[in-house]
Amino acid sequence: MRSELFQAAVDTLLTAISVEFARGTSAACLRTAHLLRSIDTTISTESIQPVSSHDTPCSLPDSVLELLETNSPVPTVSEIAALTRDLQWSESARSRTPISELIGPTSLIKHQSFRVGLFALIPGIDYADHAHPADEVYIVLAGSGSWSLGGGAYQVKRAGDIIDIPSMMTHAMRTGPTPALTLYSWTGDDVSFDHYRFC
Ligand SMILES: [Fe+2]
Repeated sequence: MRSELFQAAVDTLLTAISVEFARGTSAACLRTAHLLRSIDTTISTESIQPVSSHDTPCSLPDSVLELLETNSPVPTVSEIAALTRDLQWSESARSRTPISELIGPTSLIKHQSFRVGLFALIPGIDYADHAHPADEVYIVLAGSGSWSLGGGAYQVKRAGDIIDIPSMMTHAMRTGPTPALTLYSWTGDDVSFDHYRFC
């Protein structure tokens, strides 16, 4: 995709994403929506580095691509589907799932204190309990997965559901035989991985 068309498509996607976060009521949701509406979203000319140096380039599996082609109650899915093949995906070394960070310190759009991206929970994922300083929000765009917060029981979340994870709260995710496509944001005083830990 030509650069000006890609910029326009990314801006359209980010506008759609801001609407998704604005549906939430938590401070982290509203902070994310506000940042998406107010920051400079110019795509950086610097190269994109994976979120973690241990992450490796990957493509989306067919199961996730099929998810994008099915009807979702979340309109943002169509904006993502239009861009999927133009985005860079990496397999996260921590979760073993594809991630494409749109905004972040080393991502498509550079920002030192804010992360927003797409996180594809492929089938059969068991992302163990972990915690980090950033306030995190997940929004399920399509499919379904289960989240455990604070060591509690896993709860199934489906398209449209918002999962708020305050700073340093333990959380874990699982999928069954079908995938989930999610949005995530990291906000707060520390969006680095310096104090990320498995619990
Ligand atoms: Fe997290």
